[in-house]
Amino acid sequence: MSILYESFILMEEMAVKCLSDVDKQTSNLNMYEVKTLKTHVFFVDKNVDDLNSCPQIIQAASYLQRGELVAFPTETVYGLGANAMSTAAVENIFVAKGRPSDNPLIVHIATTEQLHDIACDIPPVASTLIEHFWPGPLTLVLPKKEAVSSRVTAGLNTVAVRMPNHPIALALIQASGLPIAAPSANRSGRPSPTTAKHVLDDLDGRIAAIVDGGATGVGVESTVIDCTTAIPTILRPGGVTKEDIEQVIGVVDIDRALVEKEAVPKSPGMKYTHYAPKAPLIVVNGSSAFLQQLVNEKRANGLRVGVLTTEERRHTYESDVVIPCGRRNDLRTVAQQLYDVLRAFDETNVDIIYSESFPYEGIGVAIMNRLLKAAGHEQIMEK
Ligand code: TXA
Ligand code: MG
Repeated sequence: MSILYESFILMEEMAVKCLSDVDKQTSNLNMYEVKTLKTHVFFVDKNVDDLNSCPQIIQAASYLQRGELVAFPTETVYGLGANAMSTAAVENIFVAKGRPSDNPLIVHIATTEQLHDIACDIPPVASTLIEHFWPGPLTLVLPKKEAVSSRVTAGLNTVAVRMPNHPIALALIQASGLPIAAPSANRSGRPSPTTAKHVLDDLDGRIAAIVDGGATGVGVESTVIDCTTAIPTILRPGGVTKEDIEQVIGVVDIDRALVEKEAVPKSPGMKYTHYAPKAPLIVVNGSSAFLQQLVNEKRANGLRVGVLTTEERRHTYESDVVIPCGRRNDLRTVAQQLYDVLRAFDETNVDIIYSESFPYEGIGVAIMNRLLKAAGHEQIMEK
């Protein structure tokens, strides 16, 4: 046995100490049908005490230091990490995802000291937001420092930064000693991943490693807020709501493109169709009886129809496939499950999907933003 192999086995044995009982069982099942050995899966229990000395975290961090790609959980969705200071490493992200090169990346940090390596001229309003919302699902757009690769910022003179509120993400960033550029760890055009399985479905064999820390919490991506405008401007609704932000810093603007179909978004990524399910998706604004009527009409024409609803109404509809997405009385649960449910519809053979709509308040704004993008803005209103 070579020394290299022996030390690898030792690493693996040490790593097992980090696993919960459940993880130990699942890790033996090869449950994700990994097609090649290129993508190494590290199972880590996010609740273990000393994640910073967890061998799997240390090994995953060494991949990042070598310029390789490592997917990891955050509190929103899984991210696909690379060393933000290395143009070559960041380039790998665009290749693995098939991401358009004009779409800049968010830099993830674990300490506020790291912020000063990548951003400058930080306005007081940004400091207030940091104090209240970091670590957490709020990304700040700030003037960038020279040292940050322009590949990260797609040539912009600003950089998007966030400190994720997830013990594994923080431990990994800290162990690497680097700021980590990380978009959502999906193939471009697919829903963001909220489980390690989603990541492997999209990127197996295309990335060096994934740290599997279980399902993420928030389910939709972070809120992106531009702090370089006189009044801070929300560019993407997400995990922190407009109401939460306004309670802390007063009135904020919303990028016109979020409310007017014709306006050009200030956040380059917002102009791309986020995700279109295989079957056309239509958002229905109206009663369950109205939605059922639409379903009946399509089924009468021989189509197989899917319905995206919530737990409260899962038995209300009669259709070919009915998938509940969280509970309407707690919209956070809808956000948590939205991407998983959109992916689940692709596993069915429906010809068309009707989705209920959700109130434009709190996290509902982010849910409707993602849902309407997936629907290509197709909506039907009950008269
Ligand atoms: O929750 C999240 O934010 C997840 C996790 C992994 O942290 N990340 C994520 O990254 O959603 P991504 O790449 O899928 O989305 C980043 C968004 C894009 O819409 C991009 O255009 C925008 O942030 N963005 C990045 N840098 C920007 C900048 N300098 N100015 C304006 N928008 C920027
Ligand atoms: Mg994304």
